[in-house]
Amino acid sequence: MCGIVAYLGHREACPIILKGLHRLEYRGYDSAGVALLNGDLNVYKKKGKVSDLEAYISEKDTHATVGMGHTRWATHGEPNDENAHPHYSTSERIAIIHNGIIENYAALKTHLQQQGHTFHSDTDTEVFVNLIEEIQKQNSCSLEEAVRLALHEVVGAYAIVVLSKDAPNQLIAARKGSPMVIGIGDGEFFIASDATPIIEYTNEVVYVNDYEIVVIRDGQLEIRSKEDVSQIPYIQKLELELDSIEKGGYPHFMLKEIFEQPRSILDSMRGRLELGAGHLNMGGIRAYEQKFINAQRIIIVACGTSWHAGLVAEYLIEDLARIPVEVEYASEFRYRNPIITERDIVIAISQSGETADTLAAIELAKSKGATIFGICNVVGSSIARATDAGAYTHAGPEIGVASTKAFTAQVTVLTLLAMIMGQKRGTITDTKLRELMVELDTIPAKVTKALELDAQIQEIAEEFKDATNFLYLGRGYNFPVALEGALKLKEISYIHAEGYPAAEMKHGPIALIDENMPMVVIATRDSSYEKVVSNIQEVKARKGRIIAIVSEGDKVIPAMAEYVIEVPHTSEVLMPLVSVIPLQLLSYHIAVLRGCNVDQPRNLAKSVTVE
Ligand code: G6P
Repeated sequence: MCGIVAYLGHREACPIILKGLHRLEYRGYDSAGVALLNGDLNVYKKKGKVSDLEAYISEKDTHATVGMGHTRWATHGEPNDENAHPHYSTSERIAIIHNGIIENYAALKTHLQQQGHTFHSDTDTEVFVNLIEEIQKQNSCSLEEAVRLALHEVVGAYAIVVLSKDAPNQLIAARKGSPMVIGIGDGEFFIASDATPIIEYTNEVVYVNDYEIVVIRDGQLEIRSKEDVSQIPYIQKLELELDSIEKGGYPHFMLKEIFEQPRSILDSMRGRLELGAGHLNMGGIRAYEQKFINAQRIIIVACGTSWHAGLVAEYLIEDLARIPVEVEYASEFRYRNPIITERDIVIAISQSGETADTLAAIELAKSKGATIFGICNVVGSSIARATDAGAYTHAGPEIGVASTKAFTAQVTVLTLLAMIMGQKRGTITDTKLRELMVELDTIPAKVTKALELDAQIQEIAEEFKDATNFLYLGRGYNFPVALEGALKLKEISYIHAEGYPAAEMKHGPIALIDENMPMVVIATRDSSYEKVVSNIQEVKARKGRIIAIVSEGDKVIPAMAEYVIEVPHTSEVLMPLVSVIPLQLLSYHIAVLRGCNVDQPRNLAKSVTVE
């Protein structure tokens, strides 16, 4: 949520910052701005996309080798030019960019107004920069010291970068709760919300920790604690390919990421499923094996699509490892005094590894003694670092706001985890385990086959693009897939859609069915197949329009459904990995046909770092 980028070095800062902002636009895109320090401290900002900012500054003097930029996802104050970042202090000698929320901004603002500070925006961020200015004035101290003291007064989350006209050739940054990474080049430094703006310049990075202050000046990087103690920066090698964050010929990142799934699923299994040797490995659980074996309960916390992956895991883990599982929205869990013991394992699932509610749920569970296992995609992310143990999904960067390949990678890792736990606990026979391993190995090829349905799905999308409502039905393992299909459609096409367990339809949604209601039914051949067929009959009797996702070769459903999408057959346990593919494609094509911005849907952000 909100992207920040800053540069100090020997090159022109503005093009580097703008390019970085484009890369970070997935985090927020309602307004954007830059501040450039070159004797003067100039701030240029504009409502709209980064491209609007580019057009706006094309005539301005942007010559500078120090600067910073921001792309916003509004929290305090509507998206407009005034609320866009960077924000000046009252004297316009200091500027700030900020990702996060300052919770006590109202009280601070009143105090600062009494001291004569004036405000031009509705943001909490403008309060922050004026607080720094006021502290610097009161204490006659350096900018760095003023920032440090200000951090003791603000409550909330932040990743900030501060520039001052009085401190040329200097960048001050700090974080608590919002991500920040520093790139170290040859006589140049980069600061960003994630590594994507940095990768073409350097592969040496430092992930900033909470409560750390970064000072870049005189060609040096210094990191200090909030208590002003110098810290040794831990420099890591960045393993990110430039290709992986570009569209690679696809019109949208979302489509590219949908089509990447055969590879990303394979990557998430690599080294973990060793079919030849008949082994399953997961380095992350090794040290906690006994805890997993003796767990009395597993609680899964997540948000959005990751929560849907958690629901699939509930079926998987209970089925294969016979451990009771509860799946919780992290945002609810963190505020409801849950009962957690030291024998519980909490699995936190997050693509970004930065979701504020999931992070807070982890802290709560930790404080009660539970073992925390993280499943994250972004390496080095806050959640990955806050957990006791974990497994990365290795899906590669996911840029499209609607999550696709991260979901299937999460489900793959959770499947492997459930299989390993079942094996260790003796709740799955060797034969069944072997069968599942063989089948899991075929999934990338089956996903490739499902992707070949693209043209057919595009035709179906043409037919239904003007619908105003959609229902998605599934049972068992396919119920979370129905929820995920409905979420995808809502997110990017703005059509109202609901996912439902097929049998629950009789308790409400059936009242909605008429000849205008499209109903996507996931009816693959599994243990609830017959029952789903009955549900399809019930919809048909009420003239609902049925789009059925069926297993290849199904002879029954084609006679009942208006459209039939045949996916390769696989084990019931693995079916979500295949059945979700046509639903991703359907939402994608409907959104494109409706002229929606697929990669940057309105109001959404990829990484939700505020609660
Ligand atoms: C946002 C994103 C979703 C994502 C959810 C959870 O809502 O738009 O795509 O599923 O956050 O994010 P996480 O990074 O924790 O998986």
